[in-house]
Amino acid sequence: MATATSSTALNGHSKLDRSNLIPFSSRLKEGRALAQDVWSIYNAANLPADCINLGQGYMNFPPPQWVKDAAEEALASTIANHYSHPKGRIRLREAIRNFYSPSFNRTLDVESEIIVTSGANEGQYSVFAAFLEAGDEVIMFEPFFDQYLPSVTFNGGKPVYVPLHPVTDGSDPRSNNWKIDFDELRRAITPKAKMIIVNTPHNPVGKVFTRDELEKIAALAEEFNLLVMADEVYDCLVFDDKEHVRIATLPGMWDRTVTVLSAGKAFAATGWRVGWLIAPESIIKPTLAACTRIVFCTNSPLQEAAAAGLEQATERGFFKQQLKEYQDRRDVLLDAFTNLGLKYSHPEGSYFVLVDISKVDIPDDFPFPESVQGRGRDFKACWFIAMELGVSSIPVSEFYCQEHCSIGESFARFAFCKDIDTLRHASERLQGLSKYIK
Ligand SMILES: Cc1ncc(COP(=O)(O)O)c(C=O)c1O
Repeated sequence: MATATSSTALNGHSKLDRSNLIPFSSRLKEGRALAQDVWSIYNAANLPADCINLGQGYMNFPPPQWVKDAAEEALASTIANHYSHPKGRIRLREAIRNFYSPSFNRTLDVESEIIVTSGANEGQYSVFAAFLEAGDEVIMFEPFFDQYLPSVTFNGGKPVYVPLHPVTDGSDPRSNNWKIDFDELRRAITPKAKMIIVNTPHNPVGKVFTRDELEKIAALAEEFNLLVMADEVYDCLVFDDKEHVRIATLPGMWDRTVTVLSAGKAFAATGWRVGWLIAPESIIKPTLAACTRIVFCTNSPLQEAAAAGLEQATERGFFKQQLKEYQDRRDVLLDAFTNLGLKYSHPEGSYFVLVDISKVDIPDDFPFPESVQGRGRDFKACWFIAMELGVSSIPVSEFYCQEHCSIGESFARFAFCKDIDTLRHASERLQGLSKYIK
């Protein structure tokens, strides 16, 4: 409640300080919602004008022309400029059914097993809203996609962090592996555990979880009756013929798994905010109830465009070609770090590479802004690399809880969802790091 304690006498009148009349919800004090996030620190506005942005994970190239044409066609129609059904436009749900049913080993039901959401992010938020009771625990592997945290806490949930552990075998600088300690995972599951988030291919590690790992997670989910959120937004970016296993297809797992997908990642259209969830009716129905109250429906014209994307992708060989392009982009960037002799986690999927920056000698007298003071060493390393060499990246300790932050402090995340010339240019600039390597 606003009080008059801050009133000041002005020209004989009492004047209230009206700048903060209404207290905001304590919900925002949770989940780092008010903290200055990495995206605003390493934002173009704070960095040199010609800095190459390998920080934030969005593309510097457009969606395919034929997908954009479908968007324009939808905008030119009448019906696609109006509300859609909260479940999503039927054309898109049918396209999702046709495209994904084979990889789920079942014929998906467009009425009860699919909903279209405003990006994967809103879909995930809706699942949390639909399933979490106050105090329910949500297990997430670290490093984690940063949106999980506020999405869980806003809905009353409590994050429980289980770190992936980087393992280096010494000889090959590219052989960093990130492993789950299954005893640690089991110990993290308390009677309050309700959900586990499994992100494969993984942002930011680039890890593709193995069948064996997913089977072990599935066994724990069965034992402790957990809802599994399979965040597979990078499912079309799995390199080197590595197997992408959908945890929903493991025995018994369909009934407890919601798979999260994104048109933004699939069609280089992150700003379109179109995603979808695939799950049994028992999960979709409550999630739809939440989603309908949050956004009512997802924007209509870009649902039509995403539908055209899925309808034509196979015939056009789109995902195969896109994968090859990403693999080439990845290799350009990896060569740059190999030349520098820096270790990195060889990405098996997604479009991120984690580079071990512990050998980068940051000059003590370098001018750092307030925003990176008192944060992990990686915050300073990323700032230094951006200012000195003109290539931005993201510090990985941001994706850890306070307690485990030191694991992430050795790494910077570089995104390779950029055209190949930009990546070549960035790679040339990065060679300037050699004189700062210990
Ligand atoms: C692991 C992961 N999940 C979900 C999302 C959100 O996807 P969308 O842009 O479709 O909301 C992202 C986006 O970067 C992501 O990296």
